[in-house]
Amino acid sequence: MVSFGSQVDFTVPHIKIRNLDKYYDIQNTQIHALKNINLDIPQGKIFGIIGKSGAGKSSLIRTLNGLESISKGQILIHQQDLAQLEHAELIQLRQKIGMIFQHFNLMSAKTVYENVALPLKIAGYSKSEIEPRVKEVLNLVGLSEKIENYPSQLSGGQKQRVGIARALVHHPEILLCDEATSALDPESTAVVLSLLKEINQKLGITIVLITHEMQVIREICDQVVVIEQGEIVEAGQVWSVFSEPQQAITQELLSFEQSDLPVVLHKDITPERTQTILKLRYSTTLLECPDFKIIFEQFNVPVHLYRSHIDTIQGHFIGSLIIAVSNTTLNLFALKKVLAPAITDLEVLGYV
Ligand SMILES: Nc1ncnc2c1ncn2[C@@H]1O[C@H](COP(=O)(O)OP(=O)(O)O)[C@@H](O)[C@H]1O
Ligand SMILES: [Mg+2]
Repeated sequence: MVSFGSQVDFTVPHIKIRNLDKYYDIQNTQIHALKNINLDIPQGKIFGIIGKSGAGKSSLIRTLNGLESISKGQILIHQQDLAQLEHAELIQLRQKIGMIFQHFNLMSAKTVYENVALPLKIAGYSKSEIEPRVKEVLNLVGLSEKIENYPSQLSGGQKQRVGIARALVHHPEILLCDEATSALDPESTAVVLSLLKEINQKLGITIVLITHEMQVIREICDQVVVIEQGEIVEAGQVWSVFSEPQQAITQELLSFEQSDLPVVLHKDITPERTQTILKLRYSTTLLECPDFKIIFEQFNVPVHLYRSHIDTIQGHFIGSLIIAVSNTTLNLFALKKVLAPAITDLEVLGYV
């Protein structure tokens, strides 16, 4: 039996992944797409998985609802081992897992109503059962007015809202989002993300969201794992990963913030490059910045401020500064020690 709803034990992770490996065999080569993945995804949270293109994000999310087979390891949903389920139980489980896609996957020859009704129709529900439910979910996503429209008559954001409505028709307990906002403009992205947040809070649905955009993670996720070449390389609360990224890949994913500096950064230090460009991060639960006068004095050279920015993530204030200092006397290791704990991270971005 697949157990759901009232039997949920909140102390047990909703989704538990153990020693998961995924291989693809194409022609004579084998691709090792997921390498020993271990993950606990808690009930009712928004869980982010971030990584660059080809990192294995889609492979991971697709194994969760059986769209991809598991090569090795285990996936437990509510303590039920996916591999142990009978065919009928797997179908029942799949209905409890909704999914939305980057390119919406709507049927262009069907209306909004027909697209959303389709999963219920396939599951054998009657028209009188289908109609109120379709209207209910379209109302939830704010698209009641578009019920008779075709996908081609909708904006990207509206298409994704249809995708969300369709994913919700079976009252899922988990919603999987594969790059759900990657094809959208910033405004539609904001609308879709706030809708996902609302669904998570109103309906208590566990959301697993994969993206290559840190911005998306920052907006709505509680926890995040960073995946690189099929491996989890970093994991934690979003505010913590943002304030103290440990891995080079995480710093790289965060580096969109640095893309419009007024100087060209060089990777290597040479005699003619006299300035080091540094990024300082700090994290606090109070809206009070560290005392930068004291901090800058520790450098013992003039400090030029290029950028100062504060983000709010889950009630934490994550601040970052980009500064230039003369590199003649810089001892980064000693400085890190002196500046802690006010400054949580000190990173060399480059040289000018
Ligand atoms: N169906 C497939 N057949 C063969 N190789 C695949 C398939 N799907 C993904 N891959 C390969 O697995 C690796 C991870 O891909 P994917 O999970 O799609 O990454 P991401 O979603 O992070 O971009 C890539 O090297 C990709 O080429
Ligand atoms: Mg993908």
